[in-house]
Amino acid sequence: MDTLFDREQRHAKVPERHGAARPAKPAFGLRWIPVRTLAPRHRPRLLKHLLALDDRDRYLRFGYAASDAQIERYVEHINFERDEVFGVFDRRLALVAVAHLAYLEGHASGRPCAEFGVSVAKASRGRGYGERLFDHAALHARNRGVDTLLVHALSENTAMLRIAHNAGASIVRDGPESEARVQLAPENLASHMEELVEGHAADLDYRLKLQVNRVDELLCASGRD
Ligand SMILES: CC(C)(COP(=O)(O)OP(=O)(O)OC[C@H]1O[C@@H](n2cnc3c(N)ncnc32)[C@H](O)[C@@H]1OP(=O)(O)O)[C@@H](O)C(=O)NCCC(=O)NCCS
Repeated sequence: MDTLFDREQRHAKVPERHGAARPAKPAFGLRWIPVRTLAPRHRPRLLKHLLALDDRDRYLRFGYAASDAQIERYVEHINFERDEVFGVFDRRLALVAVAHLAYLEGHASGRPCAEFGVSVAKASRGRGYGERLFDHAALHARNRGVDTLLVHALSENTAMLRIAHNAGASIVRDGPESEARVQLAPENLASHMEELVEGHAADLDYRLKLQVNRVDELLCASGRD
């Protein structure tokens, strides 16, 4: 077992606990990325997003090359009451990134833990969506009393381990698999306000996109007449 990124100098300014001030880094075009909480009605779009992942991405996401049937079962069985699922929608309201925050009951550590899993559509990678979803999930977990956020990733999954590392995770490698643990700061008024404001802003963004799409459809339809 060895710890990844131990001697890495590039991110020397990483905080010890998620929720502590993290120096801003240049975002993709300094753009805010709206994240919405998904509900059972989103299952079909969630399924479409996951089925579009190729074999390699399925392997990285689930730890094995999940078949279509296994993905269908996974989506069918997501417990939206216990867990939280977050999504990033593009202009056309296609789901381009999804994160599953699973709240773990009775974790061996005896601590309140949650596990994070994520996937970003190939065409939307490298824009900060993965990291944004991680930060968003960490905020939600923190506000629900979780103090440890876990990520299980294959050791070859540089992008996922980079996201965890940037969030201040301690990463333990066990051969082909790695476990990242991020200690979350305790919830406070500011963290709840942040969740509230982000949620409202993301809902507003979604409604605006919906309106724009409806206008586009009307214009297309009238152009065809
Ligand atoms: C892992 C994944 C979610 C990353 O999503 P993303 O939106 O492209 O990632 P971001 O743009 O937020 O980048 C986050 C960090 O990873 C780095 N990164 C992204 N892609 C990378 C790659 N292919 N190789 C190395 N580093 C990479 C970025 O540079 C960034 O680090 P930095 O801020 O220190 O520069 C995406 O690649 C994916 O969906 N993979 C398949 C499924 C998967 O592996 N899920 C994770 C297991 S649960």
